[in-house]
Amino acid sequence: MVTIKDLYKSYGKLEVLKGINLSFERGKITAIVGPNGSGKTTLMKCILGLVHFNKGKILIDSNDVSSNFNYRELIGYMPQIGRYPENLKAIEIIKLIIELSNNRKPVNLDYLIDLFNFQPHLNKFVKNLSGGTIQKLSAILAFLFDSKLYILDEPTAGLDPIATVDIKNLITKKREEGATFAVVSHQLTEVESFADNLVFILEGKIVIDSPIKDFITTTGKQNLEEAVIDFLKVQN
Ligand SMILES: Nc1ncnc2c1ncn2[C@@H]1O[C@H](COP(=O)(O)OP(=O)(O)OP(=O)(O)O)[C@@H](O)[C@H]1O
Ligand SMILES: [Mg+2]
Repeated sequence: MVTIKDLYKSYGKLEVLKGINLSFERGKITAIVGPNGSGKTTLMKCILGLVHFNKGKILIDSNDVSSNFNYRELIGYMPQIGRYPENLKAIEIIKLIIELSNNRKPVNLDYLIDLFNFQPHLNKFVKNLSGGTIQKLSAILAFLFDSKLYILDEPTAGLDPIATVDIKNLITKKREEGATFAVVSHQLTEVESFADNLVFILEGKIVIDSPIKDFITTTGKQNLEEAVIDFLKVQN
């Protein structure tokens, strides 16, 4: 579904991505983990065309993202921090996104409003929404349309336990329908519960790229958290 070849990205003199080679398997959930500042969000933004990269290639369904922007219609994106115009109401933002997407049918809207108990927030101004509620708005926008690929940057950060379970169920449901996922997360226990593959980024390079089960087995540990800690100790 997504193939990344020898990708380099610098912000000025700061080299953030240093030769990333990676693919996201169709119909699978790939978890992207790694320390703060290791380049996870930058990598997601490169795939989305939100930042320009210096070198390398990104292919989505064999389309080169640098020359063809139409592919972005295929992607549902949940940013790490959702920033929306403060003086618009949540419902106005949802309508705006629908209009900006050439009036595609928001097939999942009623379901999502119900899932996240969002009805009471629809007519509130963004500036009056709590952090977790903005996160729920971002989730609604990411899943508004039926997409082939979802890129979710720390989707459960700041969500209460019920909303966290809701979003995990939503991810699993869409995966069962055939969607492909790249999910950035720091929650290794959570990642282990729903993801198929693990990609670990350290200082702009991939140090683990493996099915989660295989990775745990090779370390001889009981779970992903212990396996990753063990792996990092060996690296140091
Ligand atoms: N627009 C920007 N201009 C300059 N530097 C940037 C910019 N965006 C990110 N960086 C830098 O790039 C590096 C990687 O940032 P990135 O946001 O990709 O990390 P991350 O792995 O997503 O971290 P976190 O887990 O904290 O979200 C950091 O050193 C960050 O300061
Ligand atoms: Mg990030």
